[in-house]
Amino acid sequence: MFTLRKLLAIAALALTASATLDPATSNTKGKCPCTYNCSAAKVSHAIQAAECSHNTRVHGTQTFAVFVTDHKYDHSHGAPYGNCSAYTCTAPTSAEMTVVDDDCWTFFWGNQGEETGYGTGCIKDPHDGTCGCENSNGVFVKGSDSCV
Ligand SMILES: *[C@@H]1O[C@H](CO)[C@@H](O)[C@H](O)[C@H]1NC(C)=O
Ligand SMILES: *[C@@H]1O[C@H](CO)[C@@H](O)[C@H](O)[C@H]1NC(C)=O
Repeated sequence: MFTLRKLLAIAALALTASATLDPATSNTKGKCPCTYNCSAAKVSHAIQAAECSHNTRVHGTQTFAVFVTDHKYDHSHGAPYGNCSAYTCTAPTSAEMTVVDDDCWTFFWGNQGEETGYGTGCIKDPHDGTCGCENSNGVFVKGSDSCV
């Protein structure tokens, strides 16, 4: 049954604007930091992990972002979706990455992560799952991998 609630949930899965194309340079999957020296500069809800890893979303220099999967969207195109909290203070060291949780994925704009690179796949079209990329103006370009 296609309930109104489901329709609203799907409508919420639009790609977010107000982000700058700037992929993370390292990542640690399955862990969150245990301590934070600042609160999040920006929290984005129900966005793809791929969006969290490909874009920065704060004024100033984003140092790291913590993505936590929201399982409500597990069956949606582009999953995992979740909350992406972006920070501008000093990124946690590997010794501070002690919260072990499959739902956590921490992205770094620096070399603090356990793996190099942004770690996720492409940003996907929420309607049909086609890969694409997102320009800094927030526009998703289906089928493209040459966004700017
Ligand atoms: C995401 O943020 C919303 C709003 O603050 C909260 O209700 C929800 O529990 C969060 N989800 C996760 C997986 O942290
Ligand atoms: C927080 O600040 C302390 C002291 O300046 C530093 O030792 C620690 O590594 C910092 N932790 C994070 C998560 O930035």
